Amino acid sequence: MRAPWRALPTLFLAGGAGVCLAILVDAPVLAAIAAGLVALAVPRPARAEADGAEIMSPLGADAQAVLDASPDACVILADDGTVLWANLAAREQLGISTFGSPFSFALRVPDLIRAVEKVGRTGLSERARWSEKVPTSRWYEAFVSTFKLAGGAPEGRKAIAVFIRDLTEQQRLDRMREDFVANASHELRTPLAALTGFIETLQGPARDDAKAREQFLGIMREQADRMKRLTDALLSLSRIEMRAHVRPTDIVDCAEMVRYAVEMTRSMASEYNVQLELALTEEPIKVRADSDELVQVVDNLIENAIKYGGDGGRVLISAAVETTPSGATAVISVQDFGRGIAPEHVPRLTERFYRVDVEESRARQGTGLGLAIVKHIVARHRGRLTVRSELGAGSTFAVRLPMANLES
Ligand SMILES: Nc1ncnc2c1ncn2[C@@H]1O[C@H](COP(=O)(O)OP(=O)(O)OP(=O)(O)O)[C@@H](O)[C@H]1O
Ligand SMILES: [Mg+2]
Repeated sequence: MRAPWRALPTLFLAGGAGVCLAILVDAPVLAAIAAGLVALAVPRPARAEADGAEIMSPLGADAQAVLDASPDACVILADDGTVLWANLAAREQLGISTFGSPFSFALRVPDLIRAVEKVGRTGLSERARWSEKVPTSRWYEAFVSTFKLAGGAPEGRKAIAVFIRDLTEQQRLDRMREDFVANASHELRTPLAALTGFIETLQGPARDDAKAREQFLGIMREQADRMKRLTDALLSLSRIEMRAHVRPTDIVDCAEMVRYAVEMTRSMASEYNVQLELALTEEPIKVRADSDELVQVVDNLIENAIKYGGDGGRVLISAAVETTPSGATAVISVQDFGRGIAPEHVPRLTERFYRVDVEESRARQGTGLGLAIVKHIVARHRGRLTVRSELGAGSTFAVRLPMANLES
C-alpha cells in the first residue's frame, strides 16, 4: 500500500505539464488555467472543504483557486487512480465528494475509467465521451492526461488530471439545427410533391379535361402560396438571426405600431367574426425598436389570437407602461378569450415548426414559424415574451420592452 497522498507535504503542478495539457485539450479556458498554474503554484499544502470534511490537496491554494474558477470539472488523481482533489465544478456538477478512494467509486462511467487506466499505464493522453439518461439526458467529454508533480516529496511523481466538459448545451443546439433542416425540408417537400403530382396529371390523363384543369390549377396555386409563405418565413427568421446582436436604435412609439397592426388584421378578424378591442394610453410609449419588426410581432400575435382563440369572439390588444423596481417597461399584450392552450404545450410554442394542432395550423395557412420569429425579434430588442393561458378561458401573450432613454 502506498502512503495516502493526502498526507504528503506540499506539491504543486508543473507549469510545463499544465501548458502542454491545455494545448492538447485545445481550450482557451484550460490554457488560461495552465498559465495561471505556472504563475501561481506555491510550495505550501492547501486545504479544501468538501461536504464539511477537510481534505488535503496536492495543489497549492492559488492553483486550486484558478481551477475552481473554471466552468469545466477537473479531478486530480494519483497514478493508481485514487481521487486526490476535485475542483468546485466537479464537486457541484458531478457530486465528487469522496477523496482517497478509487475514481471508479466517484464516477461510474466505464469508458472514462478505462481511459484513466490506460493513461496511468501508457502515460499518453486519452479522450472519452459518454451520455447519461437519468434524471435528464446529459452529454459529457473528458480529457485525461498525466503530469509530474513538482516540488515537495516525492518530487517528480506522476499524477493524472481529468478535465470533464458538459456538452449538453452544445448537443441540444446541434439537435435543434438538425431538426430544423429536417422540418424545413419536410414542410417544403409536401406542397412540392402535390405540385409535381398535379403537373403530371395535367400533362397526362386530364390533358383535355377543362373542368379538372381549373380545379387542379386552383389547388396548385394554394400549394405554391404555401411554399411562398414558408420561404418568406424562413428568410425572415434568418435575417433576424443575422442581426440578433445588433440592437435597434430608432425611437418608435409602441402605441402607433399597435394601432397599425390592428388595422392590418381587421379584415382577417371580420372573416373569423372576431371583434378587435384596443386599449391604449394617450401618451406615446417610446422604445428603441425596428418598426417593421415590431409590427410583425404584434401582427402575428393578433393573427394567432384570431385564428386559434377566435372562438372567444373578441381579442383585446393593449399597450401600456409598467413601472417596476428596475425601471419603466413598455408592455404590449394580446388577449383572447378562446379555448386556451394546455400547459404542456406552452413552453414549446416558440420552437420552430411547433404547433398544437398541425392540421389546423396548415388549414389556417400557418407555417409554425410565427412565434419563433416573435421570440427572436423580442430577444433582439432586449425584451421578454410571456404567455399565460388557461384552458377554456383564453390566452394572453405579452411583450415587454425597455423604454427608450431619450436623454442618451
Ligand atoms: N392565441 C392562441 N391560442 C391558442 N393556440 C395558439 C395561440 N397562439 C398560438 N397558438 C398555437 O401555437 C402554434 C404556433 O404558433 P405560431 O404563430 O408559431 O405558428 P402558426 O400561427 O401556426 O403559423 P404562422 O405564424 O406562420 O401563421 C399555433 O399553431 C397554435 O397551435
Ligand atoms: Mg402565427
